[in-house]
Amino acid sequence: MQDRKIQIAIDGPGGAGKSTVSKAVAARLGIVYVDTGALYRTVGYYVRSQNTDPKDREAVASLLPNINIEVKYIDGAQKVFLNGEDLGDKIRTPEMSMYASAVSAIPAVRAFLLDTQKDIANKNSVIMDGRDIGTVILPNADLKIYLTASAECRARRRYDELVAKGQKVEFSDVLREMNERDENDSTREAAPAVAAKDAILFDNTGMGLEETVDYIVSLVERTI
Ligand code: DC
Repeated sequence: MQDRKIQIAIDGPGGAGKSTVSKAVAARLGIVYVDTGALYRTVGYYVRSQNTDPKDREAVASLLPNINIEVKYIDGAQKVFLNGEDLGDKIRTPEMSMYASAVSAIPAVRAFLLDTQKDIANKNSVIMDGRDIGTVILPNADLKIYLTASAECRARRRYDELVAKGQKVEFSDVLREMNERDENDSTREAAPAVAAKDAILFDNTGMGLEETVDYIVSLVERTI
């Protein structure tokens, strides 16, 4: 399986379990998991640190030359460095989710992150998760999956994740912010979050991690 590069694209809305599932599938198949949302979160983090409005296209674009993003894999885990600093969980807050969503609608930001993503996929066998992987980043992926679940179910997962990290959040806020973000991401002009025509639609509402991972691994075995 390692002789030729494998490309698996996982797209879908927030809270569908893309990252948890992709991480587990990568571990089972011995390939690299690439979390592309972390790149948009990192740009969002920088924009926030400069007190810039993340919806102000010109202001955000003017900051891009000051941003150096490096992606490293340390013990199989992806680390994203912003100008040499590993941001860790600082990009995982609800505020950073909204910043990431806002800056991701700006074409200059998408162009800025394009080569980094393509480069990783050219050098490694990957399972890459995001919003435009099957449509823009890896249009020739061996397997494309659009993973989704009901809004309630996705918000519940996101809520549990944040609470487990010790963050104080209300379920109703998580649900509202998630719906707002999905609306932004799927209706923007630049690379909207939609399923590629040749993607397999997979609704995992009510399914556990193990079951979802088993199903995706079986799809990989059948397809590749
Ligand atoms: O997957 P995530 O929640 O970490 O992504 C954060 C935001 O980044 C998401 O709201 C939309 C944007 N994003 C994107 O536009 N394209 C991607 N490939 C990945 C994320």
